[in-house]
Amino acid sequence: MTRYVVRGGQRLSGTVRVAGMTKNAGLKQMAASLLAQGTTVLRNVTPVVDLDVMIDLLRGIGAAVEWAEPEVLQITVGEELEAEAPYELVSQMRASINVLGPLLARLGHARVAMPGGDNIGSRKLDMHFAALVAMGAELEVLHGFVEARCNALCGARVVLEFPSVGATETVLTTAVLAKGQTVIENAAREPEINDLCEFLTAMGARIGGAGSSTIEIEGVDELHPIDRAIVGDRIEAGTLLMACGAAGGSIAVEGVDVEHVEMVVRKLNEMGMTIETTPDGLVARADEPLRAVDVQTLPYPGFSTDFMPLAVALLTRAEGTAIVTENIFDNRFAFVDELNRMGADIRTEGRHAVVRGVERLTGAPVRAHDVRAGAALVLAALGADGETTVLDTRHVDRGYADLPSKLASLGADVSRVED
Ligand code: EPU
Repeated sequence: MTRYVVRGGQRLSGTVRVAGMTKNAGLKQMAASLLAQGTTVLRNVTPVVDLDVMIDLLRGIGAAVEWAEPEVLQITVGEELEAEAPYELVSQMRASINVLGPLLARLGHARVAMPGGDNIGSRKLDMHFAALVAMGAELEVLHGFVEARCNALCGARVVLEFPSVGATETVLTTAVLAKGQTVIENAAREPEINDLCEFLTAMGARIGGAGSSTIEIEGVDELHPIDRAIVGDRIEAGTLLMACGAAGGSIAVEGVDVEHVEMVVRKLNEMGMTIETTPDGLVARADEPLRAVDVQTLPYPGFSTDFMPLAVALLTRAEGTAIVTENIFDNRFAFVDELNRMGADIRTEGRHAVVRGVERLTGAPVRAHDVRAGAALVLAALGADGETTVLDTRHVDRGYADLPSKLASLGADVSRVED
């Protein structure tokens, strides 16, 4: 068991560099490296807990995965691969589903455990499956596994019902080796998708429209391994900016593409923070009490669902009442009860939360339900009176490479305790 102990009341100052986006971009590119024989090198990869799960999964499939040096991962893929992803690993991490497309494209069959729902919602895979069927695969869900087979994958026009990040990734990593053209309509536009497209293009894939909602892929016969750095973590950048909002102070955040955090910066400015772009990234300042603003989550470039719990943490002490609407996941408000234990005044009704700002929060033992909810509790604790213990922080470590150290480097009183 790991917990974080946070003593509130320290203002933040200093400069911090964000890590590579290992969880939401790097893991996908690791899975996509199965598409090419040879050794792919990924740089800017930080050791988060989910990375270990993907390393185990790729090793089980037959790839050799090693650290070449800190933050540089080397993945060697041979001709022979196992077509199966077991439940023990898939159930720990949803990004495991990202091996389905590459295995099907390389081997003509794949057997991947169904991940099931998790702490933030039901998380179906119907759009992934419908797209693979449109491309010529036969799919069956049997005994908790999805079994996919195909003789030849053919390009297809895939219209996504919703701009799903995962479904867009599955189509991309299958279509690159299919015969003919695939067009994804209503594709996700998250920067992680763009980064995956750039990764695949460097491998020899032919992709047009990356970053827009229509992506065209012309299948090629084979791809080659590459050496490339993954994109800076926009969610970590947003988390650090909001940490400054929660604790007060002034910080500089480097290593992120400022366009990737445009919407969160806009909201934080509306709340009364001052965030400015510099040649190296962003400088944020929070001097005054924050003001309540309404927030609704939407696919990129809208306000990301991954920032929602963090925004709620800030709104707990803002002046006024805010309505927060979650449009992406169906169960992402479980964490508000933990904030209420710290003295927040939040009521939820379906997809909405009403957050009434209070004068102060007080430290308490609280529990992290998922990665962003855990980070939100840490942020709330930075601005709370006294000591907060955040339990179950393994969830936070799934996506952040040592959040306590990063915050401590900015002057926060946060430490990690291993039992
Ligand atoms: N959905 C379906 N059918 C599908 C696919 C998705 O109904 O076939 C629904 C989901 O149930 C969900 C919504 O569509 O309600 C959005 O799902 P999406 O596929 O876009 O998300 P994801 O690929 O499962 C990734 C990130 C999430 C992030 C979302 C949205 C990873 C590993 N996960 O999930 O990250 O919130 O995109 O941007 O990349 C996090 O980092 O904390 C996190 C949850």
